[in-house]
Amino acid sequence: MLFATFEPTCKKKKSISPVLNTKICGMELPSPIGLAAGFDKNAEVFNATLSLGFGFVEVGTITPDPQTGNGKPRLFRLPDEDALINKMGFNNKGMLYASRTIRKPKLGIVGVNIGANAKSINKVMDYSTIFEFLAHLFDYVTINVSSPNTKNLRDLQKPEVLEKILQNVTTINLSLKKQVPIFIKIAPDLTENNVTEILNVCEENKVSGLIATNTTISPRTLKKPKSFKGGLSGKPLFKPSNKILKLLAKRKKPTTALIGVGGIFSASDVYEKIRLGASAVQIYSGFVYKGPMHIKKIEMELENLLLNDGYASIDRAVGASIR
Ligand SMILES: Cc1cc2nc3c(=O)[nH]c(=O)nc-3n(C[C@H](O)[C@H](O)[C@H](O)COP(=O)(O)O)c2cc1C
Repeated sequence: MLFATFEPTCKKKKSISPVLNTKICGMELPSPIGLAAGFDKNAEVFNATLSLGFGFVEVGTITPDPQTGNGKPRLFRLPDEDALINKMGFNNKGMLYASRTIRKPKLGIVGVNIGANAKSINKVMDYSTIFEFLAHLFDYVTINVSSPNTKNLRDLQKPEVLEKILQNVTTINLSLKKQVPIFIKIAPDLTENNVTEILNVCEENKVSGLIATNTTISPRTLKKPKSFKGGLSGKPLFKPSNKILKLLAKRKKPTTALIGVGGIFSASDVYEKIRLGASAVQIYSGFVYKGPMHIKKIEMELENLLLNDGYASIDRAVGASIR
């Protein structure tokens, strides 16, 4: 009951410092640090996570139909590596459920990450179906073509397939009363050539930005390499995801935004991604390891890092180390 009376009056969260205020694709963020997809799978706790200091949250991955995901156990900690391995497989309650949970006042920017059902016979169509159903309820939409835990999903990163998905969702987007920014989330396990091809297709289809990256399938990133099934996140992903971020930053058009994800545990990790070209970042594993108070702590330290280098705002620092 307390929750019900609180909701209608809830106000957007303010920034802890004006230095951290930033704008990405028209969205005003009180902080560049967002919660990555996979934590709030069903858009149930976005106001609670925004209250912890996140500047934005990405819910999902949500698929058209509900599905249970892969069998348990499917999430493992590697504490010696500050890493997680997950093979969740898009466990979620489906788009109809999310369309209900999202209909309440929001404390900030909430995006939705969309994917295809594991058993779908037309994965390309799944993106149109869910975009049409959910896009108007969210501040932005991320097309997830990079999860390693749904068979063949990452094949959708192939330029000719990605092009089809983008043409479909863009047509739907143009028919909306208010268009939403569209992001593509890519894998870290791509060659330089793959990255360039994906970027070209995104820019030809006027995608707002790219999110780099999802989890890796490469055991070589571990200090003590061992084979595993699923996607690896956390500290070992920091360098590989930064490599992709840098590649994108060097080749993208000024109008294409970048969101950096992978291995962030500290303010200096955030700062490195910003200096490599990210206008905003997202965290998952660092939040799991360091706990709920960590985000505000990182934000205060980030403010100091920016001010010490003479930056009065985030956007001045974006791409500073590749200019
Ligand atoms: C348990 C778990 C579930 C995840 N689920 C999703 C998901 O549903 N969709 C998605 O795009 N990324 C998902 N991710 C990937 C994260 O959003 C993020 O890209 C990745 O973990 C790298 O960031 P990190 O090193 O800060 O964890 C998941 C990650 C974890 C650890």
